[in-house]
Amino acid sequence: MNRLVRLFRTSIGRKLVVAASGVLLLGFLVVHAAGNLLILKGPDALNGYADWMQGHPLLWGFRLGLLGLFGVHIVTAVRLAHANRAARPVPYRRIARLGARLPGRLMVVSGLLLLAFLVFHLLHLTARVVAQSGNPLLDDAGRVDVYGMLVAGFSQPLIVTIYLGAMALLGLHLVHAIEGMFQTLGFNHDSYQTLIRVLAPLLTLLIVGGFAAIPLLVIGGHLHGGG
Ligand code: HEM
Repeated sequence: MNRLVRLFRTSIGRKLVVAASGVLLLGFLVVHAAGNLLILKGPDALNGYADWMQGHPLLWGFRLGLLGLFGVHIVTAVRLAHANRAARPVPYRRIARLGARLPGRLMVVSGLLLLAFLVFHLLHLTARVVAQSGNPLLDDAGRVDVYGMLVAGFSQPLIVTIYLGAMALLGLHLVHAIEGMFQTLGFNHDSYQTLIRVLAPLLTLLIVGGFAAIPLLVIGGHLHGGG
C-alpha cells in the first residue's frame, strides 16, 4: 500500500493516473457524443434515451464516479505540470523557447478552460438554470424534452459560439492528450508512432465532429421543432 502511495507521488505515477483517468473520460465522451447524436433520429429517440438514463438506478453512482474521475484527472494533471516546472533546471529554463513549453501549458490552459465550459454546460443542460427561455420542458409523452431544449438552446448564436469554441478547445486538448496517453501507457515503441499520429487526430475528429454537428445542424436550420 505504501509503495502504491509512493508511486502516485512520483512523476511517472502521476502520469499513469492522468493517462488512466483520461482513457476513462475519453470513453465517457465517445458514449456521450453517440447518445447526443440520437437527436438525428428525432425527438422520440433522444428523449427516450435521456428518460432511460434519468431513471436508471445507477445514475447517481455513475455521476459520482464521473465527478471523481474529472477531479482526479484535473488535480493530478495540474500537480504534474507544477512539479515538472519546478524540477526544470535553470539553464533549460533560460534557453527554453516558447515551442518547447507550449504543449504542457496548452494542456493545462485548455483543460482549465474546458472545466469552465463544463460548469456552464451543466448549468445549461443538466440543472437547466441558464439560457433557458421558456422552451417546453416536457414532450407529449411527459418526458423531459431534451430534443426541444437542444433546438431552443442552439438557435441562439451566442450559445452556439460558446459550444463551438469549447469544441475547438476540446479538439486541441484531445489530440495532444491521446498521443501522450498512448506513450504513458507503454505504446512508445517506434513502430507505434505512425499509428498514434493517425489515430489521435482521427479519434479527436470523430468525437469533436460528433459534438459540434448538433449546434451546427440546429443553427443551420436542419433540426427544428420539439417533441
Ligand atoms: C455539443 C456538445 C454537447 C451536447 C449537445 C451535450 C448535451 C448534453 C445534454 C443534453 C445533457 C443532459 C442530459 C440529461 O440531463 O438528460 C448533458 C449532460 C452532460 N454533459 Fe454534455 N453535451 C455536449 C458536450 C459535452 C462535453 C464536451 C462534455 C465534457 C467535457 C460534456 C459533459 C457532460 C456531463 C458531465 C453531463 C452530465 C451527465 C449527467 O447528468 O449525469 N458534454 N450534455
